[in-house]
Amino acid sequence: MKTANQNIKPITTKINENGNIEIGGCDLVELANKYNTPLYVFDEATIRSMTQSYKKAFEEYPNIKMMFAAKAFMTKAICRIMQQEGFGLDLCSGGEIYTAKSSGFDMSKTLFNGNNKSYDELNYALSCGIQTISVDNFFELALLNDIAKSQNKTINILLRITPGIECHTHEYIQTGHLDSKFGFDLTQLDEAIELIRDEYSNINLIGLHAHIGSQIFEKQVYFDEVGVIFKEIKRIKDKYNIYLHTINLGGGLGIKYTENDAPISVYEIAETIISSIKEHSKKYEIEEPTVYIEPGRSIVGTAGVTLYTAGSSKQVPNGRKYQAVDGGMSDNARPSLYQAKYTVEIANNPKGTADEKVTIAGKHCESGDILAKDIMLPEIEEGDTICFYTTGAYGYSMSSNYNRVLKAAAVLVNNGKSDIIINRQTYEQLCESDVIPERLN
Ligand code: LLP
Repeated sequence: MKTANQNIKPITTKINENGNIEIGGCDLVELANKYNTPLYVFDEATIRSMTQSYKKAFEEYPNIKMMFAAKAFMTKAICRIMQQEGFGLDLCSGGEIYTAKSSGFDMSKTLFNGNNKSYDELNYALSCGIQTISVDNFFELALLNDIAKSQNKTINILLRITPGIECHTHEYIQTGHLDSKFGFDLTQLDEAIELIRDEYSNINLIGLHAHIGSQIFEKQVYFDEVGVIFKEIKRIKDKYNIYLHTINLGGGLGIKYTENDAPISVYEIAETIISSIKEHSKKYEIEEPTVYIEPGRSIVGTAGVTLYTAGSSKQVPNGRKYQAVDGGMSDNARPSLYQAKYTVEIANNPKGTADEKVTIAGKHCESGDILAKDIMLPEIEEGDTICFYTTGAYGYSMSSNYNRVLKAAAVLVNNGKSDIIINRQTYEQLCESDVIPERLN
């Protein structure tokens, strides 16, 4: 069965009677006029269809805990939707913990990841009642034990490991290979276990965590990841008589940015993971563990689009045609950071013949601020509403104020209704943290 991550467009996308693109029953041109651009538009139905696909796909393995990787798109409204869908949250900074907590999220359904969690962040995480911490390194183990002791608590932890699995994705978003900044090398695991057993009495080791990368299209890497983790669990059981009953497999399921992408469905990934767990449980004679998964991109990526308004254009004599829009690398860093490609349409002219080769440029003072290079579109006119699909993940969450450009707004659409979930930043907010020291007066 197909799942929404295999579409380029949100599941409610259509062309309406005005001849414009409509998502969630809302005309994109009207949204652009009402809320101004750049604007992130999130289709609630697509988000929920993904959370529900995950739940359904893992139905036959009830001992599963779905944790939305908040780094993909974190706002209070998304936390609320995840809570309603029965998802937990994978959080990776004090700011994400604060956002979850202030949205009223049940913190007993959260876990905390990251390779350099600070004292303040760990202290805050514990006082907020975070359920599990994935510990990345020896430094953090010692720090966390001290903090837990000072709060008179015992904290459940997973040890993050680098399983030595390479997946075919962009180098910057591979994480499970051996030369990685994340997690314990397998050869360091025993030392960590012995430290916990002998010295860190406020730490309760419950399992292992791995995350092999992001935007993954292959099934086999997940099968292998489970195998590597089980092998360690068996080894640890035999050597220390400690049974680690929880495993966290991370996130990573890919989405379809362009026609060249062929991501697998949630059902395929679930089937792979479940069959690998069954096979390895049998092989190593280990009870089937509690399994966490942390999908981020696949939950929100396809649901989100970004709208821009076409502004100036430039035809280089005998060269490229550049069409500038009113956003760029500040609202979507992915093209300049990863050479990421997107599917683009003109929201007010989706049916026009795509007979012009154009390069969509951002408005930032940087030649590398190109959102889409050499794509075919109908001729763009000034004022057109340009729609970039699949910007829901790692768009807003990696946005910046480069050039002091304001952060864009986001709306959630559903059944013909649109609601602001992030207000457009104001100039006042932009300068809110700026201070002129007295002596400069
Ligand atoms: N768990 C851990 C420990 C992670 O580090 C990540 C993503 C996830 C889960 C969620 O992975 P996902 O399901 O979203 O693939 N900024 C990059 C992606 C970086 C991913 C970082 N970690 C991009 O825009 O492609």
